[in-house]
Amino acid sequence: MEVLHTPVLLEETISYLAPRGDGKQLMIDATLGEGGHSEAFLERFPGLAIIGIDADPFIQEKAKKRFEKFGSRIRFYSGWSEDFFDGFPAGQSRPNTVLFDLGISMYHYEQSGRGFSFRKDEYLDMRIDPNRGKTAAGLVAALSEKDFADLLWNNAGERYSRRIARSVAEAKRRGEVTTTGALAECVRTAVPAAYRRGPVHPATKTFQALRIAVNGELEKLPRTLEKALDLLEEGGRIGVISFHSAEDRIVKFFFRGKSGGCTCPPSEPICRCGGKPVITVLTRKAVSAGREEIRRNPPSRSARLRVAEKLRKEEA
Ligand SMILES: C[S@@+](CC[C@H](N)C(=O)[O-])C[C@H]1O[C@@H](n2cnc3c(N)ncnc32)[C@H](O)[C@@H]1O
Repeated sequence: MEVLHTPVLLEETISYLAPRGDGKQLMIDATLGEGGHSEAFLERFPGLAIIGIDADPFIQEKAKKRFEKFGSRIRFYSGWSEDFFDGFPAGQSRPNTVLFDLGISMYHYEQSGRGFSFRKDEYLDMRIDPNRGKTAAGLVAALSEKDFADLLWNNAGERYSRRIARSVAEAKRRGEVTTTGALAECVRTAVPAAYRRGPVHPATKTFQALRIAVNGELEKLPRTLEKALDLLEEGGRIGVISFHSAEDRIVKFFFRGKSGGCTCPPSEPICRCGGKPVITVLTRKAVSAGREEIRRNPPSRSARLRVAEKLRKEEA
């Protein structure tokens, strides 16, 4: 059975990012997925046009079918959003809104067959763009015990990172760890019984940390935000939904840096930007899902939305 991804914080996202003025505006959905957010925006705002980006060509094909009814109001870009921003043609109207809903979609867990979920036994691929880069199995094979432990701790705050890394290293000495089943078993045998029986599956953070590393998600994020903000029209808004604390921290400090005056690089001996803030942050605290949404859609429990409005162009 096909499970359609449920967009998180949908009403909150719409209320912050609704087109203003005559409504004839351009939005970039930088992480289109199956298009839950974009579909709602196109339905509610008839003057709006969207460019939908996704690094996964398979999910984008699914989205294209869903959006046929909107004709030319939506265009698609297949690739990483960072590359899209780099290649945006000078002279073309710039976007009034940019939305990021980071991470992966229900499709990836349930249907991609790429080893994102510990609930299925699949090859450990975990690449969002399945045509490029090293797979999770390749990464597990290449990392030392210490580096694997550091990855679990740094990317997901896994508190049993050392025990899990030791268990994986032992399993690698006996053979290969190339499937989700084998990795989940390493975690299961490594962690204390109470953790195993806890409300969240004990392999959740291990799988999340590995996926983040395979796709370079934390390294890409600051650059991608910088480019998105640079492209955004003055007066336009940028919204970012993140799903774990390392990601949310990057967004929070990025916004803080751009809203707090001087943004010159530390190597500049004197301030050249005039110290004026580039954005104003509209969400004093990150917006999170209410009890009712978490009941309806449990993955929304970790979603955090931050929104900022661009005041002026940053001087080079
Ligand atoms: C959480 S899903 C988006 C769900 C969508 N908002 C919805 O409600 O249906 C994120 C999607 O963005 C894609 N993705 C993640 N990071 C990306 C990036 N940096 N550039 C392009 N696509 C990305 C993933 O392949 C995934 O399909």
